[in-house]
Amino acid sequence: MPSTDAALWCVVPAAGRGTRFGGGMPKQYLPLVGRPLLLRTLERLAAHPCIAGLMIALTAGDPHWPGLASLHGKPVLTCTGGGERADSVLAGLHALDGKVENDNFVLVHDAARPCVRGDDIARLIDLGVAAGGALLATPLRDTLKRADAAGFSLATEPREARWRALTPQLFRRGELVAALESARAAGVAVTDEAMAMECAGFKPLLVEGAESNIKVTTPADMMLAEFLLGREG
Ligand code: C5P
Repeated sequence: MPSTDAALWCVVPAAGRGTRFGGGMPKQYLPLVGRPLLLRTLERLAAHPCIAGLMIALTAGDPHWPGLASLHGKPVLTCTGGGERADSVLAGLHALDGKVENDNFVLVHDAARPCVRGDDIARLIDLGVAAGGALLATPLRDTLKRADAAGFSLATEPREARWRALTPQLFRRGELVAALESARAAGVAVTDEAMAMECAGFKPLLVEGAESNIKVTTPADMMLAEFLLGREG
């Protein structure tokens, strides 16, 4: 029996090495308005009334993890992530065995998205549970080019009906585990949960979310996140 009206657990993949960011410290531990980026993300999730607890996938023996056990009165659990984001998500979903039924929905949210808005999470859950699965996304607004190997533009791709996938993403735990496992078995490198679900024959609902829900990947993204969070006070 899915408990759609109960608060949901959220898996947070945080086992990335942040190699595109550069520098020694993994990007999720760099300070963002005075607190580590990861903590900013976790605080925002834990403060949300629709979220029951957090399962964080960390690198093995992560020396930077502050050892939090709860936030805003919600349990914070950890597990060891894997080599790719999808492996970390799968580890987090397995670690929820016995806590979250297969038929229950879970959220998955990137550690690197500290600016997610509470009203977007609430809308994602409202619409996503009814649809059987969903993700936050924004329609593509730029003109999209396809490049050749030398960096010359070969063609302009249509932007109609093209969206950028964000997180959180919301799926039933059992269906998402099965989808991620069959993608792994088929050697398909999935870059988000919705892609695994699409490969398994599902059609996740695209729920339009704020463009400010950026993924911090480069130092410029960090500056933008500082600005966005600073503006919120
Ligand atoms: O690398 P990318 O920016 O796509 O990572 C998105 C999220 O997935 C980040 O929060 C990162 O820490 C996480 N991740 C992970 N395990 C990996 C790779 C990335 O948990 N092996």
